[in-house]
Amino acid sequence: MSKNNSSFFKSKNSWSEIKDKLLSYYLPQYFQKVLMTNKSIFYVDCFAGKGKFDDGKDGSPRIALQIRDTCISQSRAKNPKIDTCFIDLNYEDELRANTIGYSTKNGAPQIISGKYEEQIETLLSDKIGKNVFLYIDPYGIKALDYGLFSKFADYGFFSIEMLINMNSFGFMRAACRAMRVEYVLDESLDELVEYEPTQVDANKQSIELLNNIAGGEYWQDIVKDYNSNKIDGYQAEKRFSTEYKQCLRKKYTYILDMPICIMSKQHPKYRMIHVSNHEEGCILMADNMFSRSDELFVEIQNQGQLSLFEHDVQNNVVDRDDIQQKMLNFISKFSNSMTANKLIAAFFTEYGVLCKSGEIRNIWADMEKNGLIEVTRIPATTPKTGKPSKFFTEDKSNNQSVTIERSKS
Ligand SMILES: C[S@@+](CC[C@H](N)C(=O)[O-])C[C@H]1O[C@@H](n2cnc3c(N)ncnc32)[C@H](O)[C@@H]1O
Repeated sequence: MSKNNSSFFKSKNSWSEIKDKLLSYYLPQYFQKVLMTNKSIFYVDCFAGKGKFDDGKDGSPRIALQIRDTCISQSRAKNPKIDTCFIDLNYEDELRANTIGYSTKNGAPQIISGKYEEQIETLLSDKIGKNVFLYIDPYGIKALDYGLFSKFADYGFFSIEMLINMNSFGFMRAACRAMRVEYVLDESLDELVEYEPTQVDANKQSIELLNNIAGGEYWQDIVKDYNSNKIDGYQAEKRFSTEYKQCLRKKYTYILDMPICIMSKQHPKYRMIHVSNHEEGCILMADNMFSRSDELFVEIQNQGQLSLFEHDVQNNVVDRDDIQQKMLNFISKFSNSMTANKLIAAFFTEYGVLCKSGEIRNIWADMEKNGLIEVTRIPATTPKTGKPSKFFTEDKSNNQSVTIERSKS
């Protein structure tokens, strides 16, 4: 079912709340950490909306400005600076009016009326050496050009992170239309509400548009397998998401995704994808995704009842032994040892957010006890007691490091 997008800002719906929570729990940690690089941050909300919903709730621009002001006032960095920029095609006036009133000494936000895909390259062209964060929350998939994401990786920023709302089910529906494959009666590809569904017909331009969004032609084989009943709609969407993330991995080191389900037993409606090159950002976002999906399962899906089983971010039941086995297999692939943070971030990128990072450290403690891994710590002994160190947490400010490899014996 598609819906006129003018109703989008009437009141904030439950899946917008989830997106906002993901952003608002992550940004304070991100800003504080990245400000300590003593390089400024350029924060762009690429599909910013009105700034505020008609029911008075803050939209993503106001959420970010509020967090910016708090973080700058609390930062221990030398000259903390976060420049903000909001792009929207339709709501320039509302956006201007709704972003007044934030600390002027931190700089007024730049407001751009236009299309993200036409503005962003010029906007980023003089941000070399800076920390860039892009929040990408479109209605549909049309503007999600993979070619742009790929280019950003080569701009020479000090760091870049993106949080992308990818409507992977919307993509699969468009993909079916482009390849004349029937899906309308398939509940797996049904949508609660799709604002601005991408207009796609069975023609060459549509195929090209979808190739540009997906970053390749791999999606066509997925549609063929769906059409010949080798896979169902859920499997098709999952395969598309996996292959899309693999594409992003050609240019970025760490990719996470959180499927957004609204009700119990329901399959996801879209995915929030986090892209970064820094292990600490990846771990913070993974822990954030885990906590947010936990809240989601309890609050929305189980109407407040606690589930008897542990779930991962994909709502699969997780088993500690299984995570340990996966960790062992993963570590075995590397001939050299890896730092603890790099290992956690790479593990989550490979297998998804199966648990929180703290649980991985608990699992390592068991693995070390059982002689499955070798751990090298600096300092090797505790300064106070002289006993062997046991930590699995890296702390650069205290020169505390941990590297891990599979036991050779
Ligand atoms: C899902 S809403 C964003 C909601 C916003 N993140 C919030 O939390 O309030 C998508 C927004 O993208 C805008 N838009 C649509 N096409 C666009 C484009 N090509 N470039 C920039 N903005 C666009 C729409 O006007 C709409 O406000």
